[in-house]
Amino acid sequence: MVGNTFGKAFAITTWGESHGPAIGVVIDGCPCGLELTEADIQHELDRRRPGQSDVSTPRKEDDKVEILSGIFQGKTTGTPISLLICNKDADSSKYESIKDTPRPGHADYTYFMKYGFRDYRGGGRASARETAARVAGGAIAKKVLVAHGIEILAHVVELGSVKASPVTIDEIRTNVESNPVRCADLKAAEIMLGKVKQARSNNDSIGGIVEIIALGVPPGFGEPVFDKLDADIARALMGIGAVKGVEIGAGFVCAGLTGSQMNDPFEINNGKVVCTSNNAGGILGGISSGENIICRIAVKPTPSIARPQKTVDLLSLSDTEIVIQGRHDPTIPPRIIPVAEAMMALVLADHLIRADHLS
Ligand SMILES: Cc1cc2nc3c(=O)[nH]c(=O)nc-3n(C[C@H](O)[C@H](O)[C@H](O)COP(=O)(O)O)c2cc1C
Repeated sequence: MVGNTFGKAFAITTWGESHGPAIGVVIDGCPCGLELTEADIQHELDRRRPGQSDVSTPRKEDDKVEILSGIFQGKTTGTPISLLICNKDADSSKYESIKDTPRPGHADYTYFMKYGFRDYRGGGRASARETAARVAGGAIAKKVLVAHGIEILAHVVELGSVKASPVTIDEIRTNVESNPVRCADLKAAEIMLGKVKQARSNNDSIGGIVEIIALGVPPGFGEPVFDKLDADIARALMGIGAVKGVEIGAGFVCAGLTGSQMNDPFEINNGKVVCTSNNAGGILGGISSGENIICRIAVKPTPSIARPQKTVDLLSLSDTEIVIQGRHDPTIPPRIIPVAEAMMALVLADHLIRADHLS
């Protein structure tokens, strides 16, 4: 299996399976001299950790991170940083009976067809558990970005077809962690929560939309032509399990606009060039413009649902039915927030370092 590394100048390699002894990440290219403790990383892992509310899987992992290399006297040395997170609450018993009957919507069938032999326990490498390693790497990327005045926020804007009303940046900062669905519109959050509970009691799941915003990104991030900033962001976000769509700025709405509606006019404000709208989502020609970078991801409903579903037995090549047990998220968007922020941070840290005139 290749493709476990993401990034060029600031790169992460994640490793490990959901039900193996541990998962982890190696971060290569982190600048020297950055103050870094396990607490910096733990904070982000605690936001991703399962079992925190009834909108997430009851699997209880404390996700304690251990730094194995790359830090001396509390600062990065510029050498690879290796992080370890032990798996403590894996229960593989529910996966034995479904090892030859692929779960519809999950990666079981395609892994089987590609590799023939796979770690089926908990979805193995295709499990969302792998995202803990990304979040750990992303926490370091965030720290690099904060030192350059860059902040990343994410919030649920739609869940189970319930749409949030527009909110301010301050409302996102204040409200997202105050409710289990991580929606900054608190009225909508309550209705969304009801939808999650309803889906769970119907042995079903729901999807939604998450918006990710990067503030303080200066003009100049992004490398034409194949490493455009929007292309790298789309790749980073689409690479998260369950993400089926990525929009930047106006996104798919742009197809129905006229040029005069879509274009973001420039003006001088306090001696600086600014745009009076942001349909481009902060990126023009693959390069950041200095406006906020805004994107949205469409997240599908959790594939593992506890109701009978049609599938096949891959050994006998016959039709059969599956009822999935095990512990699963009834909805993914609230849990994907720290993962999406981490992926955005990894892209921006990579481009910050590549934009050497700025770093
Ligand atoms: C944060 C997060 C939590 C997830 N939780 C679950 C889960 O509990 N059960 C499940 O079947 N899939 C879960 N998924 C989705 C699967 O990982 C994903 O659907 C699977 O790997 C197949 O990939 P695809 O949906 O991109 O095709 C989760 C994904 C993320 C990002």
